[in-house]
Amino acid sequence: MANDIKEYISRRKQELNAVIMAHYYQNPEIQDIADFVGDSLQLAQQASATPAQVIVSCGVSFMAESAKILNPDKTVLLPAQAGCPMADMVTPAALREKKSQHPGAVVVAYVNSSAAVKAESDICCTSSNAIAVINSIPREKEIIFVPDRNLGRYAAAQTGREMIFWQGYCPVHDIVSPGSVREQMALHPEAQVVVHPECPPEVIALADAVRSTAGILKYIKDSSAQEFIVGTEEGFLHSLRKHCPDKTFYLARSNFVCQEMKMIRLEELALSLEKLQEQIEVAEDIRQKAYRSLQNMLEIK
Ligand code: 13P
Ligand code: SF4
Repeated sequence: MANDIKEYISRRKQELNAVIMAHYYQNPEIQDIADFVGDSLQLAQQASATPAQVIVSCGVSFMAESAKILNPDKTVLLPAQAGCPMADMVTPAALREKKSQHPGAVVVAYVNSSAAVKAESDICCTSSNAIAVINSIPREKEIIFVPDRNLGRYAAAQTGREMIFWQGYCPVHDIVSPGSVREQMALHPEAQVVVHPECPPEVIALADAVRSTAGILKYIKDSSAQEFIVGTEEGFLHSLRKHCPDKTFYLARSNFVCQEMKMIRLEELALSLEKLQEQIEVAEDIRQKAYRSLQNMLEIK
């Protein structure tokens, strides 16, 4: 049965000239069948470069929306109605209100935001490039950073910039406690601690390195250490084990799961390809403004 479904997916993909892009937090079988697995920045970069006519975005809605914003003439599919609770913590109306209080401020939107919020922003960032994005903004400019307060605080500390933070957070990373990290450190004293910047500042303070998912993978590949306490979603361990089979990983907390990222399985993917669902649409006026914010980010090296 599993082989039948995989054969169907691969045949249908050819028929449609489709590409399957998956985030590192996806279920292992989706990571294995994807043409490309990456973090948010890599997924946006791949989406802006792919020659495929159909992009199947295996992730959450803001990732599929970004692919559509960058490819208005292509069909972009999201195989499940998966959202990101953090992205919903800022609305365009609330952001407009904040902008009116700080005229002239540059708005930086973490890609974990809706197309409408990106359209209200000047430049996007991901957890990979937030520091480079902040450093690209003239020092005299005020910065409003939405929606992740933890990534915002981390980027502010790294760049020495004062910023106006939004009080959004990732419900999956924000509840990692310093206590649970210390517990793992005591159990595995040789292990390096590598965490995602969506974790709270008290956890970041304990880490040997703070990186996006792709950044964590690179750090671990390059490191001579053998054991790692990983401060991000458990689906990522599948890719870590594939790339670094000799290394050992421990999660920074138990049940480190983003349920939204787990909604796509082979069945949902096959159905999505069969019925061309759910097709992502973004209103053209919003898309054009959001495109500018994403493109401003993609131009930053
Ligand atoms: P990355 O930028 O590392 O892909 O993270 C995205 C995300 O949703 C983290 O929770
Ligand atoms: Fe959103 Fe957090 Fe899930 Fe990432 S892990 S998609 S930020 S809820």
